Amino acid sequence: MSQARTNLAILGLQWGDEGKGKVVDLLSPRFRQVVRFQGGNNAGHTVVVDGQSIALHQVPSGALHPGCFLVVGNGVVLNLEVFQQELDRLKARGFDLAGRLLLSDKAHLILPHHIALDLWREARADKLGSKIGTTGRGIGPAYEMKASRMGIRLGDLRHPEVLADRIRPGFEEVRLRLGDREGLPTLQAIVDGALKTAEPFLPFIGDAQGHLLAAWERGDSILFEGAQATLLDIDHGTYPYVTSSSCSLGGLFTGTGLPPKALDKVLGIAKAYTTRVGAGPFPAELLDATGDRLREAGREFGTTTGRPRRCGWFDAPITAHACRTNGVDGLAIMKLDVLDGLDEVGLVVGYRTGEGGVTTRLPSCAAEWADLKPEVKRFKGWASTRGFTDHRQLPPQAQAYLEALSEAVEVPIAYLSTGPDRTEGCVYPGTFLETLLG
Ligand code: GDP
Ligand code: IMO
Ligand code: MG
Repeated sequence: MSQARTNLAILGLQWGDEGKGKVVDLLSPRFRQVVRFQGGNNAGHTVVVDGQSIALHQVPSGALHPGCFLVVGNGVVLNLEVFQQELDRLKARGFDLAGRLLLSDKAHLILPHHIALDLWREARADKLGSKIGTTGRGIGPAYEMKASRMGIRLGDLRHPEVLADRIRPGFEEVRLRLGDREGLPTLQAIVDGALKTAEPFLPFIGDAQGHLLAAWERGDSILFEGAQATLLDIDHGTYPYVTSSSCSLGGLFTGTGLPPKALDKVLGIAKAYTTRVGAGPFPAELLDATGDRLREAGREFGTTTGRPRRCGWFDAPITAHACRTNGVDGLAIMKLDVLDGLDEVGLVVGYRTGEGGVTTRLPSCAAEWADLKPEVKRFKGWASTRGFTDHRQLPPQAQAYLEALSEAVEVPIAYLSTGPDRTEGCVYPGTFLETLLG
C-alpha cells in the first residue's frame, strides 16, 4: 500500500453551509476518489469557478475534475429524480460523469411518500410549536424507513418484480397517517416512477464498499465529502433540531464500509462567523442590524431552499465540540471577507448560565440551551481581506482575530478562504495541508 497518499475527510463544524463544497472542489485535483457518505439532497454545496456558480446536492463536489471518480456511499439517501436533474445540469455545462460514477447498491432511495410525510409532519408541527424547519426533501422519513427495516435500497431496483411488495409496508404506514389526501401518489405510481427514474442509473449501481476497499488497497487517494455538519448530527448535534444522519466522523465509516485505518486526516470547515437554517438553539445569533449585514454580505440564503440563514458571531464552544467529536487535525476558516468593514468583530468564547457563571460545555437537551447567553470577546475590525492569498499579509486586526479563534477551539488553522472563487484563499505553511498539496 502506498504511504504517500493522504486520505482526507472534509467535515462541517457548525450547522452546515460552511463552504465544504468550495474546499472539496479545491482539493479534488489531488484525489482519485471523491466520496459522499451521508445525507441526501438536503445538502447544497456551491462551487464557484470563474465567477460561475454551480450548486451540487447529491453529486460529490469533485464532479468538476475529470480525474476524479465519484462514489455515493451506502450511508446516503438518494432522490434519483433530483440526481438526474443534477447530471443534466452538469452535462449542459460540459461535465460528463459517465464512466466515473458509482452509486452504492446499499444506499437508500427517497420516495414520494417520504417527502409527503416530511411535509405533513412539519405542517402539523407548526401548529404544535415543534417545527424543525427541515428542507422538506423527505430526508427524515427516508432514514426512518431505513432504521425500521422498510427502506428501499438502490440494489432493490434490480428486482422490479418484487418492488411493489418491498415498498408497500412503508407506504401503507404513511397512508395510515396521512389518509388518502391529495399529494400522496398511489403505490403503483410510486413503483412505476421509481423504475422509470432508475433505468438510466442501473449501470452505475454497484458495490461501492468493494470499490473503495480495492481503491484503498492499491493506494488511490480518497477524499470524503461530509454533508450537513456536527451540530446537525443525529447524536452529537443540537437534538432534536438536527438532521437524521450521522454527519460527524463516525458516519464516514458506517456510510462507506471502510475501516477507520483508511482515513489519515480530518479537515474541519467553519465560517469565520456562524449561520444556521431552520429552528433550534443558536446562542450566538444576532437579531440586529449586524446580523442582517452578515446575511447580506455573506449571501446567506439557502442553496437548497433559498431560506434566509440566521447569522451570528463565531461560536467557539460549538466549534470546539465539533473539533473534539471529529478529531480535527486542521481548520479551514471560510468567508473571512464577509467580516470586512465592520467596526468590531465578536467571538463567542463561552455562555453565561442562568446562575451567573460562564461555561463552554454544551447542554444535551434543548430546554437547557434557552438559559445560555453568549459571552462575547470583541476585536477591532479591519478594512479588507477579500481575495488575500497570503495570511501574513492580512491586516493585523484580522490576524489577531484568527489567532484568538484558533486558540479558543484549540486547533490550528490550515486553510483560510477570502472569497468564493477557487483562487481566493491560502494554505497555511507548515500544516499537513501544505504537505498534502505539496
Ligand atoms: P456547503 O454546504 O458547506 O458546501 O456551503 P454552501 O455552498 O451551502 O454555502 C457556502 C457559500 O459561501 C457558497 O455560496 C460559496 O460560494 C460561498 N463561499 C465559500 N467560501 C467563501 C468565502 O471565503 N467568501 C465568500 N464571500 N463566500 C464564500
Ligand atoms: P449542507 O450540506 C444547512 C438543516 C435544515 C433543518 C435540519 C433538518 O449544505 O451544509 P432535514 O431536511 O435534513 O431533515 O432538515 O437540518 N439542514 C441543513 N442546514 N446546510 C445543510 O446542508 C443542511 N441540511 C439540512 O435546515 O434545520
Ligand atoms: Mg450548503
